[in-house]
Amino acid sequence: MRRPTQDDKFSFGLWTVGWTAQDQFGSASREPLDPIDAVHKLADLGAWGVTFHDDDLVPFGSDKATREHLLAEFGAALRATGLVVPMITTDTFSHPVFKDGALTSNDREVRRYALRKLLRNTDLAAELGASTFVMWGGREGSEYDGSKDVRAALDRYREGIDSVAGYVKEQGYGLRIALEPKPNEPRGDIFLPTVGHALGFIAELDHGDVVGVNPETGHEQMAGLNFTHGIAQALWAGKLFHLDLNGQRSIKYDQDLVFGHGDLVSAFFTVDLLENGFPSGGPRYDGPRHFDYKPSRTEGYDDVWASAEANMRMYLLLKERALAFRSDPDVAEAMEAAGIGELSQPTLGEGESTADLLADHPSFDDFDVEVAAERSYGFVRLNQLATEHLLGAR
Ligand code: GCO
Ligand code: MN
Ligand code: MN
Repeated sequence: MRRPTQDDKFSFGLWTVGWTAQDQFGSASREPLDPIDAVHKLADLGAWGVTFHDDDLVPFGSDKATREHLLAEFGAALRATGLVVPMITTDTFSHPVFKDGALTSNDREVRRYALRKLLRNTDLAAELGASTFVMWGGREGSEYDGSKDVRAALDRYREGIDSVAGYVKEQGYGLRIALEPKPNEPRGDIFLPTVGHALGFIAELDHGDVVGVNPETGHEQMAGLNFTHGIAQALWAGKLFHLDLNGQRSIKYDQDLVFGHGDLVSAFFTVDLLENGFPSGGPRYDGPRHFDYKPSRTEGYDDVWASAEANMRMYLLLKERALAFRSDPDVAEAMEAAGIGELSQPTLGEGESTADLLADHPSFDDFDVEVAAERSYGFVRLNQLATEHLLGAR
């Protein structure tokens, strides 16, 4: 397998390789990682970009001088390695002040503070040349239905996102906001739990034109949903602004495994969509291939770097397999037999009205449903071909 290059656009969050593996049941199993070392190491491995929360780089509550010093050092590391910062995100979930949420906290003072923290971070995002501002509202939600007026919470969420989006436009930052859905964890239930909920919410915004989604593989799968369908719908809606790739094995806690180490077949079709597009063409994603994973608690630093490399290797392997799948004449023939192309044909003829359809006897009155029901689509054969390509058996 070839080494990753800048053209692959692989990026990692500082909080991924830098996760010290503290969880609810135990203390950290790794020493903290210096962000500067992370930048150098990621660049050595062939990554193209690095992303971070404000607090990953500048510890919460740092004074102005410390903040400036840390940012200057980080900027120097970026220039030395050539790594870019395509995306920045804000920590509005770690500090206990956000225990009832940030933009949707019942406490108005907390909401005002959160908005200030977010606005400050858009300034930094613009300064570092980021094009995407991810907003994951990890604490926006509740444990108890009676503790939140959901209508008011959605009003405040909309007010908050519109305020950030409006500010970004006023400043001429050229940043796009990407909302990251997650069904639960850390809250019992998080608002905007899935890609679908987020898309519905964006349609209600005043500044929805600069707001899209940042779907994460595992988050959709935690809800038992199909991640590839989620990003497909976001693409179709022109709203796939960013991606968090990782691995998840079924409906359970957020595992944040290496990409492909969860549902491998699903990962194959994710890469197939990202690299080959829809069979019928249409919108493509050309943004960062961003990994948001956590190196398991069992791993020491050598293995942390091996796991970072594993994400990129998995992606490249799947890309190679997906390209082989799409260029196999047997696959083309199976797709044809399955009617994949037929779905692109509009159901009504050009200029045909519903009145014309109602007058069209062959489509209904004379339609032999029994004969039509006999059609065999061959989807299993097509899926077997996909699986054989995935296994490298063809
Ligand atoms: C998770 C989330 C977070 C967010 C990140 C960006 O795994 O719970 O993915 O990692 O992506 O905090 O704000
Ligand atoms: Mn994420
Ligand atoms: Mn996650």
